[in-house]
Amino acid sequence: MKEIFPGVFSINNRLATENPFSGYKPFDGELLKKGKKEFRMWNPTRSKAGAAIKKGIKEFPIKKDSKILYLGAAHGYTPSFLSNIIGKKGVIYAVEFSERCFNELLILCLKYKNIVPILADARKPELYYWIEKVDVVYVDIAQPDETEIAVRNCKEFLKPNSYLMMAIKSRSIDVTKSPKEIYKNEIKKLKNSGFKIIDWKTLDPLEKAHAFIVAKL
Ligand SMILES: C[S@@+](CC[C@H](N)C(=O)[O-])C[C@H]1O[C@@H](n2cnc3c(N)ncnc32)[C@H](O)[C@@H]1O
Repeated sequence: MKEIFPGVFSINNRLATENPFSGYKPFDGELLKKGKKEFRMWNPTRSKAGAAIKKGIKEFPIKKDSKILYLGAAHGYTPSFLSNIIGKKGVIYAVEFSERCFNELLILCLKYKNIVPILADARKPELYYWIEKVDVVYVDIAQPDETEIAVRNCKEFLKPNSYLMMAIKSRSIDVTKSPKEIYKNEIKKLKNSGFKIIDWKTLDPLEKAHAFIVAKL
């Protein structure tokens, strides 16, 4: 077993986080005992953060006590692993605008108490103006204007010298352009908005025609 990033483990070449709820798993997947600790396997084909780690992203800025604004939480698969990494003193403000997904997210949050569910459109950060400043804005919303939404939320909620983590689904941005062209263009937009790109990776074949960016503002 190897700790790749704080709180992120590789066990027999599979990603995992420590499970705070012994014997309990909120989604399909395996639990594995190692001594007194239990680990929950993290499937990188279901999670772009997991895929980015598998593809060798050089920085993963989420760690114990991190405060995160998460845009596009869906039913909470990736948030549930990030919740394990940040622990009880960390917090994830999890924004989702689909009521169907949000209802499933609510159930997860009954157990994962460091995830705060917010039913809102990430295009309207004024709807969650009350959240505190965060260490990381995590964006996975598959929208054509995703980068603009990410920049706006970072300018509103990110602490100085802090991180944006963003998954890009090229087909959601423009089906007529090549993924490579799209990634280049979105990275350029981030640079023009004052971000420093720390690293980025394409996620194929784990997530087809997706990329993952870690940037700093
Ligand atoms: C690819 S899924 C996210 C998967 C999730 N991040 C995970 O890894 O478990 C994208 C989610 O973003 C949500 N979404 C898209 N546009 C949004 C917006 N403008 N505001 C809030 N949520 C949005 C969708 O409803 C969908 O649930």
